[in-house]
Amino acid sequence: MKISLSEGTWDRSTADIVALAVPSGKTKLNRALGRIEGVTGKGSIKPLATDERFVGKVAQTLKVAAAGKAKPRWLLLVGVGDEQDAGKIAWSLGHSLASAARAQKSAALELPVVNVETVRAATQGLVAGAYRYTEYKSDKEAAATLSSAVIVGAPKSGPGLTAAIRAGKAVAESVNFARDLVNRPPNDLNPVTLARAASSESRKLGLSCRVWNKARIEKEGMNLLLAVNKGSAIEPRVIHVVYKPARPKKKVVFVGKGLTFDAGGLCIKPAASMVDMKCDMAGAATTLGIVFAAARLKLPVEVHAVIGSTENMTGAKAYRPGDVYKSLDGKTVEVINTDAEGRLVLADVLTWAVRKLKPDYMIDHATLTGACLVALGPWRAALYTDDDKLASKYLDASEGEGESFWRLPLDSDLRAMLKSSIADLKHVGDRYGGSITAALFLKEFVGDTTWMHLDIAGPAFVDRPHGRLPKGGTGFGVATGVRFLEGIR
Ligand code: BES
Ligand code: MN
Ligand code: ZN
Repeated sequence: MKISLSEGTWDRSTADIVALAVPSGKTKLNRALGRIEGVTGKGSIKPLATDERFVGKVAQTLKVAAAGKAKPRWLLLVGVGDEQDAGKIAWSLGHSLASAARAQKSAALELPVVNVETVRAATQGLVAGAYRYTEYKSDKEAAATLSSAVIVGAPKSGPGLTAAIRAGKAVAESVNFARDLVNRPPNDLNPVTLARAASSESRKLGLSCRVWNKARIEKEGMNLLLAVNKGSAIEPRVIHVVYKPARPKKKVVFVGKGLTFDAGGLCIKPAASMVDMKCDMAGAATTLGIVFAAARLKLPVEVHAVIGSTENMTGAKAYRPGDVYKSLDGKTVEVINTDAEGRLVLADVLTWAVRKLKPDYMIDHATLTGACLVALGPWRAALYTDDDKLASKYLDASEGEGESFWRLPLDSDLRAMLKSSIADLKHVGDRYGGSITAALFLKEFVGDTTWMHLDIAGPAFVDRPHGRLPKGGTGFGVATGVRFLEGIR
């Protein structure tokens, strides 16, 4: 999408459709609609708004044919409620415009305030809002999206604003990249093709991307990852992408769960729970999105993405409940439920990352537990860390990006649930506290590293659009991760 700036006002714009922010509340709503009617003619909007019950609620939209002296053909009124944050309003304008304007080719939007923050937010909203997963649609026409947008009432250039557009695109395109990976069907995206996708994008951006095949993973001794892979006909992969700027301020390692399909293994899932399990590599997708965005933005931070990828299937060689395996770390682990495979894969990858990369921060993303959805609902991720500063920085970043996280405790009281009578550890605790005990299991493998675990099982993949999340793969966590990295000094 081509996004540009224009000094003109919206009523003079030659775009097909123009988005305008409209607040809620009787007086403010009336004043905003009155101002628009000043151009389109008295009585051209208010009666329709009343009929359609358009009251300026957040994300409520009303599309009207422009009349009177307005040049554009269509107006899109976008409710912003009593939102005060100019960045959030800008994002919402861009997002609503791109989702509403499918048949139109060109669009314009008027931001309440024009600055680096709002221009970037509007750009992110536009590019993320135009997202559609079309790889398997034969009718490409129906999937058409906006090809250009202009932000009116802005100084024509100015290096800051042009850079803001570039930055907004970099983030949103990385979010969309992650969405595409998650949406891709599991007969197409498997550990081998996931690694290829990571390599080819890395090559485009000039990043190093190392991929380990099964033989190499065996040589490294990642026996937990290998155990999960036993029931699959497809080889596992470990994928390691590195973005390293000239004088990095910190080294941040993102680790991702890359289960390209989770059937549950021998503890097989019921059909209704299995149907969306292509989404179980969303942590890997988010992790890749973050490192690619960091590279596009040329952030002064060294960023690694390390992914453990396999399917969890039921083949004749599948690992069993009761099996005991020795982790890369050396601890023996008793398998309880083969459907709790994510923590096994992550344990070995976390161990390797701690040992070989010595990160300042290590952050994993994983669609780890159904229990997390029970606790927080489908649209919010759980955040676990013992580092209060890291938690608050991350939560601040997420607030700015409109992504919802909630900090849950690494409650040491529950650690006893992971005691095994025959091995060093069981990998599953009791039913209650299931998201916490999964996090506690991971914690066994991170040593003294400053570490954070993000359980994104809910918001990574949703069954209907919600706020910033489109139906299907959402790319959840990419925007927050990038903003967190931007705050590092
Ligand atoms: N991939 C699932 C978790 C999941 C559930 C992700 C729903 C997205 C939506 C994970 O591997 C899993 O199956 N977890 C089990 C653990 C249990 C067996 C201890 C679960 O949550 O039921
Ligand atoms: Mn599972
Ligand atoms: Zn899983």
